[in-house]
Amino acid sequence: MECRILFRMTLESELPETATVVTATGDEWWRSAVIYQIYPRSFADSTGDGVGDLPGITKRLPALKQLGVDAIWLSPFFRSPQKDAGYDVSDYCDVDPLFGTLADFDALLETAHGLGLRVIADMVPNHTSDQHEWFQAALAAPEGSPERDRYMFRDGKGPNGDIMPNNWESVFGGPMWERVTNPDGTPGQWYLHIFDKSQPDLNWENPWVREQFFGILRFWLDRGVDGFRVDVAHGMIKEAGLPDYTPPAEAASMGGAAAATDLAPGITDPEIVPDPPYWGQPGVHEIWRGWHDVLAEYEGDRVLCAEAWVDPLTKMALWVRPDEMSQAFNFAYMFTEWEAEPLRDVIQESIDAFSGVGAPSTWVLSNHDVVRHASRLALTADSPQGAGIGPKSLGKPDPELGLKRARAATSLMLALPGSSYIYQGEELGLPEDMELPDAARQDPTWFRTGGEKYGRDGCRVPIPWEADKPAYGFNTSGKSWLPQPVDWDSYARDSQDGVPGSTLELYKSALALRAEHGLGTGSLVWADGFGANAVAFRNGGILVVTNLGPVAVELPVGEILLSSQPIVGGALETDVTVWIRA
Ligand code: NOJ
Repeated sequence: MECRILFRMTLESELPETATVVTATGDEWWRSAVIYQIYPRSFADSTGDGVGDLPGITKRLPALKQLGVDAIWLSPFFRSPQKDAGYDVSDYCDVDPLFGTLADFDALLETAHGLGLRVIADMVPNHTSDQHEWFQAALAAPEGSPERDRYMFRDGKGPNGDIMPNNWESVFGGPMWERVTNPDGTPGQWYLHIFDKSQPDLNWENPWVREQFFGILRFWLDRGVDGFRVDVAHGMIKEAGLPDYTPPAEAASMGGAAAATDLAPGITDPEIVPDPPYWGQPGVHEIWRGWHDVLAEYEGDRVLCAEAWVDPLTKMALWVRPDEMSQAFNFAYMFTEWEAEPLRDVIQESIDAFSGVGAPSTWVLSNHDVVRHASRLALTADSPQGAGIGPKSLGKPDPELGLKRARAATSLMLALPGSSYIYQGEELGLPEDMELPDAARQDPTWFRTGGEKYGRDGCRVPIPWEADKPAYGFNTSGKSWLPQPVDWDSYARDSQDGVPGSTLELYKSALALRAEHGLGTGSLVWADGFGANAVAFRNGGILVVTNLGPVAVELPVGEILLSSQPIVGGALETDVTVWIRA
């Protein structure tokens, strides 16, 4: 094939100094890994009770090996009353019977490692379940006791203490405070819960709490986990005095993003950018240094990944300084609108910010808390994170457009240097389930907002494996904890496996090429010549171009290695990404 390779590849010296975006280097596997998020409830169900489980995951691991990912991250499978789908832990050192046993976990780990897949567990340190023995002990203990000091108990205001300690609103809606009843039946103190009232916040100023978590980390590290995704890593320290605070209306419910305070002119130190009094407080960094040291006791480059909804990126980079965490989810990238200039900017800013502290950037488009990107990228109305989309929502996406953009967006993401996260089902092109009946909903957001916000159930529906099987092969009983749409057969893995042009085959090709060409450890050189509406760069020997404008972009002749849609007549149509051998 003729290789009249691209535009101005030979004119590299003409490119501005900033055209090469230098990524931080290092030998650790996680710097370039593609990590696949498994949401255990919805991945594969071996018992037929309608909820996925660990043996189900183990059985399906070969499919992930075949997909070409490097690691899996398991959302929580610990013992839990499941009020927030496992993010309400009542015993950090056991497996919830819903998901199996510790022996099932060990078997999963062994199988994954045998396949060359690393395993990341999801640690939830900001809060416990209200059923955790520590919280039950706190309820039984008197005010001012050491047991109460493990949580955030405060006296109420007013003569009878019946006014909440401050005005904070829970991420899931309603107040962030719940009043307890004393053992003698009288109304007592209030406790803080950033999330559901069944998720009381721990007091991370208390050394006892810190000590307990060192033990919990070691419990799982000793078993062989390769690291942790850390839930709400930006929320664990609260500003002294707990001052009143009302977030901006457009803020993402988890913090960060729209709540961002961009660096004001003249402020160059991200550490002093003000944050809400319960997000991004500087005291968290000491905690991460402690966790870093625990992981460093173990061989094999164990990873810590922060779920930290913090803006700007220069501030989030503080979470991944060399003595803290390894990487942090890049939510700024996830929520960048589908437009060329903001995308170019966020990519540049991400690599600059993270490289500045010696860390890789991460890239992510979907997870269990956001509208799936095969729908989100074609929404025509605002949909703040956490609000979800349901039968009555406005601005629902055109599914074909959504999938087209999602395929282009993923093809762009997987060519970027750094580490990428994939959420189960996105490799099948799954859209958000926007028609879940109200009666089926389980997200606490739905209940705490009185149905005003649909919440996150639409991205959590059990995924389809086989088109013709009960529950699309999720199990053999046909049960499903959230009902699956009736028209998901074409998304099923077996409908796409080996089918040229399917979304599954696109992901497989992208992952194989990414590995072959070392894109994860590469560097990015911006490429010009494709117009303002394109994102175009070279990574190693590959030129990547995404066209986000209304007009087709002319492509140079070259060997097309990957394209998110068929390329016709040498032109890159709108919402298409191509990889060309450079
Ligand atoms: C972030 C998790 O991703 C989300 O699912 C959960 O509800 C909250 N943290 C509370 O743990």
